[in-house]
Amino acid sequence: MSEKAKPPSRLLFYLITLSLFLLILSSLSLRQFGDVSLLPGSVFRLILANDTSINVRPNVQRDSKIKTIPFLSPLSSKTQSPNSGPSSEGAICPPSRSLSCEKNRAVLKVYMYDLPPEFHFGLLGWKGNGNETWPTVNDPRHIPPYPGGLTLQHSMEFWLTLDLLASNAPSVVKACSAVRVENSSEADIFFVPFFSSLSYNRYSKPLGKEKLVLNRILQEKLVQYLLGQDLWKRHGGKDHLIVAHHPNSMLHSRKKLASAMFVLADFGRYPAKVANIEKDIIAPYKHVVRSIPNDQSAKFDQRSILAYFKGAIYRKDGGTIRQELYYLLKDEKDVHFTFGSYGKNGVNKANAGMASSKFCLHIAGDTPSSNRLFDIVATHCVPVIISDEIELPFEDVLDYSDFCVFVHASDAIKPGYLLKLLRGIDRDEWTKMWVRLQEIAPHFEYNYPSKPDDAVDMIWKAVRRKVSAVRLELNRKKRYYRSQPTS
Ligand SMILES: *[C@@H]1O[C@H](CO)[C@@H](O)[C@H](O)[C@H]1NC(C)=O
Ligand SMILES: *[C@@H]1O[C@H](CO)[C@@H](O)[C@H](O)[C@H]1NC(C)=O
Ligand SMILES: *[C@@H]1O[C@H](CO)[C@@H](O)[C@H](O)[C@H]1NC(C)=O
Repeated sequence: MSEKAKPPSRLLFYLITLSLFLLILSSLSLRQFGDVSLLPGSVFRLILANDTSINVRPNVQRDSKIKTIPFLSPLSSKTQSPNSGPSSEGAICPPSRSLSCEKNRAVLKVYMYDLPPEFHFGLLGWKGNGNETWPTVNDPRHIPPYPGGLTLQHSMEFWLTLDLLASNAPSVVKACSAVRVENSSEADIFFVPFFSSLSYNRYSKPLGKEKLVLNRILQEKLVQYLLGQDLWKRHGGKDHLIVAHHPNSMLHSRKKLASAMFVLADFGRYPAKVANIEKDIIAPYKHVVRSIPNDQSAKFDQRSILAYFKGAIYRKDGGTIRQELYYLLKDEKDVHFTFGSYGKNGVNKANAGMASSKFCLHIAGDTPSSNRLFDIVATHCVPVIISDEIELPFEDVLDYSDFCVFVHASDAIKPGYLLKLLRGIDRDEWTKMWVRLQEIAPHFEYNYPSKPDDAVDMIWKAVRRKVSAVRLELNRKKRYYRSQPTS
């Protein structure tokens, strides 16, 4: 053994030296791009492990001085010209005094179809003056409100559409990751503003004598419309973005529109051909409990409950684990495990319960994901994720193991396993996760107007990261288009 090890050890020495050199080189280049707007600030602080000389501005201060990313300039056809140097459109822009989003500074240029209001704000009861397609968004008080309650969980269709509308409203100060362009040849992605979750939640009941279901009619109309568009046909819809966050939304049309990029809650009810992590985006649910401000968040010793769970007991697929855990945990003194929906006043109770617990269980239900995870994060309770199939938003830039405990379902149901694990996490370790939770919680907040690195902004950035792959695929396909002799 030892004789054999000698020659490779020399090689190893060179390899280590080389890789150290490369590491230093790459960390130097990271420093140059200190304001990388594709990555959220908190993530960036993490990447720069501990280099105190680098001062990454906190999120709040970034509002007024958002720069575009130097190394990932916008994708529009103009900037693809080989002559475009760093000073050309969309590359390094001087920080502007103006707070409104300029087209050339945006990371993502979005073309939004002017679908008639029946597909979006009309579903909210909005009636424009005669022939208006969109409400004016200058004054947040005049925006048609989205219904509250649990419907709100899937409202990202609303927030994303509003954000695009706001990019043409000079008086609105918003995050600048995405901007709406009117000229389709400038666009990186084509946004389909159909409020599909609202349509499912509100219009799935048969209407009138003919028993027509509006949710289904709208989907059929949408498919017909999109498949007839030249912009869709050009690339078979691959550069189109469709929001279908409710697991049952777009049920009648998802297969026909499957080539598009979807914004989803998880892949639980989709065949892999229709939706998958390569092409689609996972967006956070909008939480329904109140967010706890950081300065009011209870610390380790102030949280008297070790583990908290409240949810429905009988679930269809994969949900039997809830019952098994219930019988394991129900008699533990410092565990709060109850069944039931939030119901009347239940949201406030759940809020208080989670806010005074160290750990909150997120157990697979009838879908792998639920808004509960985002409720948990909003109360800075450390999530314990017992859901093997779960997909998490923005996981390419967020390391969930920093602020969540993951437990395989098969381990969680071993007697004693879960509590031993949780009791073994001491105050220091817990506090680290709690601090990180407070940092990342703003990434799951939907705002109008959007704020840098909030959920809306993070979704656009995630779309931008996917667009590169779409571009690559489409460009590769073009390689040989001249190789057929025409005569
Ligand atoms: C980084 O290092 C400095 C001292 O070099 C220390 O004061 C600081 O707490 C460290 N920060 C983190 C996040 O570890
Ligand atoms: C709306 O209708 C009015 C007249 O009824 C017309 O002058 C105007 O151009 C129309 N606007 C659009 C956007 O079609
Ligand atoms: C749209 O953009 C393309 C490319 O930038 C340009 O050639 C065209 O003239 C523009 N169309 C309009 C209507 O402005």
